[in-house]
Amino acid sequence: MQDYLHSRGGDTGEVPVVNVTPSNRNAVEANRTPSPDSPDPNVGFKSPPKAETEIGRDVEESPLVKHHGETPVPPVKTTGSKPVTLTFQDLKYSVNIKNPNKQTTSDSKYVQREILRGMTGVCRPRELTAIMGASGAGKTTLLNILSCRVGGGGKNKLSGSILANAQPYDIAKFSKFAGYVMQNDILLETMTPREIFTFTASLRLNASPEERQKKVNRLIQDLKLERAADTQVGGTFSKGISGGERKRTSIGVELITDPNLIFLDEPTSGLDSFTAFILISLLKSMAVHGGKTIIFTIHQPSSDIFFLFDNLMILAKGKFIYQGPTRAAVPHFGTIGYQCPEYSNPADYFIEVAHSDKDDDKKFEIMYQAYDDNIAPQIEQEAKAVQNKEIVLAEKVNSFLTSMLLISKRSFLNFIRNPILFKGRIGQSIFITLLICILYFRISKDLDGTSLTNPSNIQIIYDINGAVFFYSISQFMSSAMSVVLTFPAERAVFLREYSANMYSVSAYYFGRSTTEVPFVVLFPALMSFISYYIVGFNDANAGKPFIFALILIFVSLAGNATGILVGSVFSDAKVATNVVPVILLPWMIFSGFYINSNSMPDWLGWIQYTSPFRYALESLMWNQYTDYELGTGIVEQYGYHLGLWGSFGLLAAVGLVARAAALFALKILVKKLE
Ligand SMILES: Nc1ncnc2c1ncn2[C@@H]1O[C@H](COP(=O)(O)OP(=O)(O)OP(=O)(O)O)[C@@H](O)[C@H]1O
Ligand SMILES: [Mg+2]
Repeated sequence: MQDYLHSRGGDTGEVPVVNVTPSNRNAVEANRTPSPDSPDPNVGFKSPPKAETEIGRDVEESPLVKHHGETPVPPVKTTGSKPVTLTFQDLKYSVNIKNPNKQTTSDSKYVQREILRGMTGVCRPRELTAIMGASGAGKTTLLNILSCRVGGGGKNKLSGSILANAQPYDIAKFSKFAGYVMQNDILLETMTPREIFTFTASLRLNASPEERQKKVNRLIQDLKLERAADTQVGGTFSKGISGGERKRTSIGVELITDPNLIFLDEPTSGLDSFTAFILISLLKSMAVHGGKTIIFTIHQPSSDIFFLFDNLMILAKGKFIYQGPTRAAVPHFGTIGYQCPEYSNPADYFIEVAHSDKDDDKKFEIMYQAYDDNIAPQIEQEAKAVQNKEIVLAEKVNSFLTSMLLISKRSFLNFIRNPILFKGRIGQSIFITLLICILYFRISKDLDGTSLTNPSNIQIIYDINGAVFFYSISQFMSSAMSVVLTFPAERAVFLREYSANMYSVSAYYFGRSTTEVPFVVLFPALMSFISYYIVGFNDANAGKPFIFALILIFVSLAGNATGILVGSVFSDAKVATNVVPVILLPWMIFSGFYINSNSMPDWLGWIQYTSPFRYALESLMWNQYTDYELGTGIVEQYGYHLGLWGSFGLLAAVGLVARAAALFALKILVKKLE
């Protein structure tokens, strides 16, 4: 830690935290921070000298930071690395937006808005490439395009080429040699950083369990996550690890496979300047020691951080106004009349320069012109000259069954730790069971078994039917809502992991279901057995309570499947929660309880056949009123005619269809990504 502090002073100008060894001294010297008052005007746009680190070896010496004064962690065998040079040429991207100037009907409704306007660039291995620019300049869009997260589908247009070592790539290939740390940390709240790393390592690393463990420990040390490693990430329900620790965990997830190319969108946002400095130093060390190509967007770097960048790209309104060595940026802008004031942070100055006001067209014209004249030709030449070299692609290591088991294990932990999914449901079940037992206590004890039309019997029958209806609604709702509230957050993690090629949609879905289903079965089963005799439902034979429980279990399963379906379609829990009533209310009203099945208008009556409540209610009623003093006339009065097993079978079928639809929805979701 002292070394970090010492190196921040800039008295030596050496690259902080990178250990200077005879083999990399050249690189470190090359990155010396120039004195602000004597910028070297002769610095051109050639690449700085490279560290003489040996790339492509089987055993990495130390891909990450070597801790000063500490015993270095023993080297971990990695899949080996081969440097990647990323180039993009004449990248143009425009989106279709509503025409803001539409006045007459002859004006078109939509117009194309150019986001990127012909960008060519080169990002080299062993370098930190920082992309800077005002908010809305197109930085994230550029990263998303380079990482194949954004394509030219629909009315959005994308043109130009993106190459890694002169080879084109798609998202599937990208995930095998590169990692993308998005701006928002997408982590499962109930997991600890150690568990997250271990899970990722198990799915992505082709190594023995001991090696994986070593790698995880090493990553935790390198990312300085020792203190937070065993604390749950936390978030909505509980305070967990800090923002900086979350960010480092997100970065760790991408580093576990040792990718040769790493993208990071605003890795330092929300971090204090010192933590930000440590993070960028770590990336710098990875670039120099590990031969990696590291590209990130950044807002407001301190001057210490700024001078760690090797390659700087500055964007203004979707075009470059600068690209080249960081230390050459000040002289470049100086020559066109934008001289960075002495003692001020060049990063702040460049952002100010790149910011646009209404009447800035002239300013940008000068900058674009200077870029086109002095920088662009060299970059274009360099981009064309990149040679076709091999890219090391990570192999997919796990079978369907292994991924499913790993996902199932994680889901189990998530389930029992998530307060909504487990503790909440226990509390809810106890509360509802108590309420039912008190309210409907021995409900049928005064039933006079002689006549259906006896007024006191009618009242009791209404109560029994009300209890039966309440059972189905409560089971369906609590089962669906717990998933609707938690699944959208998990969905983001699923999408991130799926994009990283960690598992297939089916492995995820079935892995998750195998853990969830036992819980979904447990709650209604317990509730039914506890309350059946207390309420005083039909006990003509011992099979009745079991059939009662079985029906409620299937109601709960249908609720769970509907929850996953809604949660897969909507990414925001709030939206998903609002959508649930839109589906549930029609199902409830068409269940036959509020309006008799025979009284529904023909053209709308079909809705009842999609409703799990209708089948649940009918099967529960047949179960209640067969072998009963008053006979089954009551069931028939509701217009139910399917019989116990007929309605039960259709209830199971609705659940199955919802489950299949949820899997289908997830498949469509990932298709959209591709
Ligand atoms: N799909 C889209 N539809 C409409 N506008 C879009 C779309 N994608 C990006 N934009 C617009 O493109 C511009 C660039 O967006 P981008 O997210 O790349 O900016 P940025 O440089 O990353 O900004 P910030 O620093 O604030 O993150 C913005 O004005 C944004 O509104
Ligand atoms: Mg952005």
